[in-house]
Amino acid sequence: MTPTEIKAGSASDIKVDDVNLGFLLVAATDARSRAYAPYSAFPVGAAVLTESGAIYSGCNVESASYPLGCCAERVAIYKAVSDGHKRITCVLVITDTTPPAAPCGGCRQVIYEFGPEAEVICTNLAGNVRVTDMPTLLPFGFGGSELPPR
Ligand code: THU
Repeated sequence: MTPTEIKAGSASDIKVDDVNLGFLLVAATDARSRAYAPYSAFPVGAAVLTESGAIYSGCNVESASYPLGCCAERVAIYKAVSDGHKRITCVLVITDTTPPAAPCGGCRQVIYEFGPEAEVICTNLAGNVRVTDMPTLLPFGFGGSELPPR
């Protein structure tokens, strides 16, 4: 699947239903407003939809010891997993960049762990949307099935 640029207001290529899309957008935007990003000044919000229909959001959380910070996507996923949700069907990320920023490589690996087929919706404050999916963002991904049986 090729990432698709969608004009603000048009959600034709988006697979997730409109109600969940709205909830994901509100949750991610709200989480972004709580980003702790004093070092990068780059607030990010994310929200994930679980297989059971639950939505978890996250923001990036930075540290004065830079490598210890955590991306918004991973915060959202870790919150979902720690609540018992291990399958993710959709991830929405919101930044203030044009075009909307996509998840970093580390987050792609973590999304793949819990949603190897997940839809990924990248959006920004201007309402631009890029929609893609995990097989596009992380082809030939490394997962648990690669490891020898325990
Ligand atoms: N960041 C995210 O939260 N998600 C990404 O996918 C890319 C980067 C955060 C990490 C850091 O706090 C800031 O953006 C600048 O890299």
